[in-house]
Amino acid sequence: MSPTRTPVKALSGSGKLVYGCDYNPEQWDSAIWREDVRLMKQAGVNLVAVNIFGWAELESLPGEYSFERLDEILDLLHANNIGVNLGTGTSSTPAWLTTLYPGILPQSASGTRAWPGGRQAWCPSSPQYREHALRLVGETVRRYGAHPAVRLWHVSNELGCHNALCYCDVSAGAFRSWLQARYGTLDALNKAWGTTFWSQRYSSWEQILPPRTTVSTNNPTQVLDFHRFSSDELLGYYQAEAEVLRQHSTVPVTTNFMVTAHIRNLDYWSWAPHMDVIANDHYLDHRLDAPATELAFAADATRGLAQGRPWLLMEHSTSAVNWQPRNIAKGPGEMLRNSLAHLARGADGLCFFQWRASVQGSEKFHSAMLPHAGTDSRIWREVLELGSILETLAEVAGTTVKAEAALVFSWEAWWAYDQESHPSSDVRYLDQVHAMYAAFWEAGITVDVVAPGADLSRYKLAVVPGLYLVREKDSAALAEYVANGGTALVTYFSGIVDENEKVLAGGYPGAFRTMLGIRSEEFYPLPPGRTLALSNGSTASLWSEAMRLEGAEAQLTFTEGHLSGTAAVTRNRHGAGNAWYLGTVLDPASLRDVVTGAAGEAGINVLGSPTGLEVVVRSGADHSYVFLINHSDEDHKYAAHGHELIVGEDVSHAVVVPAGAVRVVRTSDPAPQTAGPSASQKDDESD
Ligand code: GLA
Repeated sequence: MSPTRTPVKALSGSGKLVYGCDYNPEQWDSAIWREDVRLMKQAGVNLVAVNIFGWAELESLPGEYSFERLDEILDLLHANNIGVNLGTGTSSTPAWLTTLYPGILPQSASGTRAWPGGRQAWCPSSPQYREHALRLVGETVRRYGAHPAVRLWHVSNELGCHNALCYCDVSAGAFRSWLQARYGTLDALNKAWGTTFWSQRYSSWEQILPPRTTVSTNNPTQVLDFHRFSSDELLGYYQAEAEVLRQHSTVPVTTNFMVTAHIRNLDYWSWAPHMDVIANDHYLDHRLDAPATELAFAADATRGLAQGRPWLLMEHSTSAVNWQPRNIAKGPGEMLRNSLAHLARGADGLCFFQWRASVQGSEKFHSAMLPHAGTDSRIWREVLELGSILETLAEVAGTTVKAEAALVFSWEAWWAYDQESHPSSDVRYLDQVHAMYAAFWEAGITVDVVAPGADLSRYKLAVVPGLYLVREKDSAALAEYVANGGTALVTYFSGIVDENEKVLAGGYPGAFRTMLGIRSEEFYPLPPGRTLALSNGSTASLWSEAMRLEGAEAQLTFTEGHLSGTAAVTRNRHGAGNAWYLGTVLDPASLRDVVTGAAGEAGINVLGSPTGLEVVVRSGADHSYVFLINHSDEDHKYAAHGHELIVGEDVSHAVVVPAGAVRVVRTSDPAPQTAGPSASQKDDESD
């Protein structure tokens, strides 16, 4: 457990906001380093991550270390007052290591060993990998543990990005030990996994394997436990590196999380307490319908991991990435909107991957702060602009975001929800989470993202999308929150199984039936493209269920098909609170109506309308900062009183946010906890 959490702003060296990047000087001649540092200073960069992929450079042969080039880089950065986020360099193994120990290479579920030549090709349970990696960490920290440039240790890189799930024999052994610790006896394991099904009973620990490819489907609890094990195994590896670092250095230690739509292998709720700084990497994902909304969700989730305190955006991109099918470049102003959306949602530092665009290797078409085009480019001008805006916004550092609504999110539920052999492969956990989140985003209601079982007492509303797997204590805590006057909004396929993937029988959703005052007998997923008419004139899709009311009132009913006349959306009075249930997929407008209705009834001041103006408030002891991010093609006006920091103007009653622009108003007005575009936005007058 991390003894202290380091304030992110301390990493800038001046108590201001962090502005930085990954820097891979090993890809360049030392002559270029001086030019790099000069330009970094011009941009206002104050923290750079180096040595992320340094292993082969530092230890070119087993046990033969050469740190001279890294010495020079650290000294150069220090001389220019740029701090270092020092990588331990263990993320990618040198060729000699996997040649000596091919068993380090991870194995897929079907038994294929990965070849070296990419990156992160190591099995998280490999003893040879760990021994050599920790030896390198020891050498590195003994050399740089007290170097004045080093402000942060960056363990490995995006742990589990490529290698989270390894199915090799070494992993199998480690999995068994993990299972023994979890279950104690084989009987307990057999019971938890339901191995009476399909003759899967184990009579010795040695028979148990990771969920390798079978001719049919794997045991779902085995799959789920393998996810839990794999997350714990990498966390154990993180802790091993952190322990070596802490023996020789008092500099804070962290690693970069991947709270993002396309990676789900680590349960960051269990990782977060072990970090000295919560840091995330985020890239806009153009495979999604609403990339900017997903960015906001990831930022809010990262703030949740930081328990509301400021966090560090360790990587994002100035423009295109290289790893999506179509790598869409950002339009003018888009980088600024993305970067400042992270800041609005609690980041105290913004870093990019990477400083100078590579000219070789598979990331050569990935954008950077300094693009191939050089300084005579839009990207560079926007990089300078962002640097100067961060200077202007320095006073925001340390302030926090306060929300009146919470969204319950669970990596465990995600692993369980998206398994095979469920009622419909068209309903996916993250789709539900994103749909609910988007409805709040559009309504201008800021949400905190919290873990199942979190203390909800300070929230007026808790939204629980697709919490398919839920522990009894966590469903009890939610019911108690509602009984005490809270409002819950639970969506379909929630509360179905316990922590061992065992159905809570007796009618769905077993874990929430009493609180919701309903009982469903059967699910009727709909094929894509098929809809069912609803009583408000809209249509439902993808999911329906045969619901009986046991105390709840129907808010919307199906008016078509054999479920016609039965409830689709319900509300139940439970104790002093209300519990809503969405038993189908609503269209975005109806979903927004339900969300704003429930939020309004819960006492949240909902002013918003879906205008594309993102509004988030950060508050400190003396002032609040209203971030206004205009994603639309139209100018918007927002009622505010105070001083606008980006253009530097006093605002007496409203500020205009031009199309595509960002404005930040410092105000002494009581912090609006929920902020949507104001009714006055259509006024013609502005300041
Ligand atoms: C990740 C990695 C970086 C780089 C970027 C590219 O975030 O940490 O090393 O590969 O992706 O988007």
